[in-house]
Amino acid sequence: MSVAAAIAHPNIALVKYWGKRDPILNLPATPSVSLTVAPFTTRTTVQWGAERDEVVLNGSSRTDGAGQRVLRFLDLVDPHRPPCLVRSENDFPTAAGLASSSSAFAALALAATKAAGQSLDPAALSVLARRGSGSACRSIWGGLVHWPLGERVDGLDSHGAPLRSDWDLAMVAAIVADEEKDTSSRDGMTRTQETSPLYEAWVANAPDDCEAALRAIEARDLEALGTVMERSTFQMHATMESADPPLRYLKPPSFEVVHRIEALRAAGVGAWVTMDAGPNVKVLCDPTDVPGVVDAIADLGIATHVLRPGGPAQWIEP
Ligand code: PMV
Repeated sequence: MSVAAAIAHPNIALVKYWGKRDPILNLPATPSVSLTVAPFTTRTTVQWGAERDEVVLNGSSRTDGAGQRVLRFLDLVDPHRPPCLVRSENDFPTAAGLASSSSAFAALALAATKAAGQSLDPAALSVLARRGSGSACRSIWGGLVHWPLGERVDGLDSHGAPLRSDWDLAMVAAIVADEEKDTSSRDGMTRTQETSPLYEAWVANAPDDCEAALRAIEARDLEALGTVMERSTFQMHATMESADPPLRYLKPPSFEVVHRIEALRAAGVGAWVTMDAGPNVKVLCDPTDVPGVVDAIADLGIATHVLRPGGPAQWIEP
């Protein structure tokens, strides 16, 4: 029996991954760029060798789909593994568009491989984390991260790669709702791919947006980065809303925040919105503009969390 533990921060996509060219390997149809954010943290402990398999998520023992997904991931680490005990806790809302699966599978990849006595480099850990949840491959690294498409059919070249962690950005998360969403991103992507007439155009356009984001990051141009982030967000949501039946991840208060940030920008504040497969809105801005953004959202009666670039996933004492 061996025990290992790890922490990881979630990441928020600036240019989105939405659609898979291989649903088993979680190979993306679109390249993406993200920011790993602190202080939100997932903490995961894996006991390799237990009486029976058990998965405890945020204090509740889970035998449903979420628990099964964790156990299937352990089978990838070692198909001949012993029964295992996994405990994982998030200090932020789970499955509510705050990228909890990204930190979950990044932390699990580190903890499980170490508990199993394996030693993987970060690229290999990122490939493994991607199998649990695509976006998790980006949370292996801190700061700004690029996840290119890759070319290999086995997916070994499709993993996160660090861009820069020396740009002090801020993200203000507006917590519109903190309950778990009805449709997972996995199911949402499948429905979009199968039914949205906009999906092909989305996939065709994404590489240009990714290149624009990489150029903006290289030049430390926040306006260019914010602009392409919003474009990627709204194009992704157009594919969701044009799915059949439509995927409606956003709620009326999400739009109130979007309009409020547009008004701030018209008044000269550099702030841009992004939303994922959930109603919460994340606002990208310079750290000096955080108080103005927080006040504007608080004025709507909506709670906020201030997020800053987070570090890479790492092992901790169990
Ligand atoms: O990898 P998943 O299943 O967590 O999907 C992530 C999808 C989005 O959050 C909407 C976009 C992204 O790139 O993170």
